[in-house]
Amino acid sequence: MISETLKAQTAACHDAIENARRFTRLGSEDFSRDEYVEMLTRFYGFYKPLEEAFRLHPTLMTALNYQQRFKLPLLIQDLTDLGVSTEALEALPLCTDLPPTASMAQTLGCIYVMEGSTHGAQFIAKRLQAKLQLDDKGLSYYRGYGSQTMSQWKAFKDYLDATITPVDEPVVVAAATQAFECLQRWMDSDH
Ligand code: HEM
Repeated sequence: MISETLKAQTAACHDAIENARRFTRLGSEDFSRDEYVEMLTRFYGFYKPLEEAFRLHPTLMTALNYQQRFKLPLLIQDLTDLGVSTEALEALPLCTDLPPTASMAQTLGCIYVMEGSTHGAQFIAKRLQAKLQLDDKGLSYYRGYGSQTMSQWKAFKDYLDATITPVDEPVVVAAATQAFECLQRWMDSDH
């Protein structure tokens, strides 16, 4: 199944991004609230243009009930709760080196990476809340779908497995690989 192929073929990309400098900081004892805000601003700069590109595939958006899956509103909520003004948000740099989303297969490869990271992020949210003493504010991106996380992840994988034909599999894997790589370049950059 494509969901299993994706997991196996992007495992090295996952290891690489988990060990990239900004993500290793997440586990550090001295990871600060300022660093956390900076990390969320970078996600904002990546998700804003990428989710705009996803919207160009209305069939996918409807099939996946994507209105519930957009990450940008969660990032705006968290950044606002953490004190970032609307003017500062609108002035943030946006990523232009994005993964491919011209076809539905490519877009599904990118969405795999975004939805999978929400699934993995549950573990990180618990750690962040304790370490940064965030109360309940500023964690909605990392919390994702909360108690619905497993069911949302399963619904996405079921759709992926039912939709992608063997001939499209390499396209999906290539797009997912590029999604990991583009995000890593963006997070590592010194803009
Ligand atoms: C410190 C950083 C990270 C940690 C500790 C982490 C941890 C995890 C863990 C524990 C899982 C497995 C959850 C499970 O199977 O129950 C997972 C899955 C996943 N993560 Fe991460 N992750 C990190 C960063 C990222 C980033 C930045 C991305 C990409 C945006 C990402 C994408 C994924 C994907 C696609 C999966 C699903 C794999 C699959 O089952 O097909 N992760 N992560």
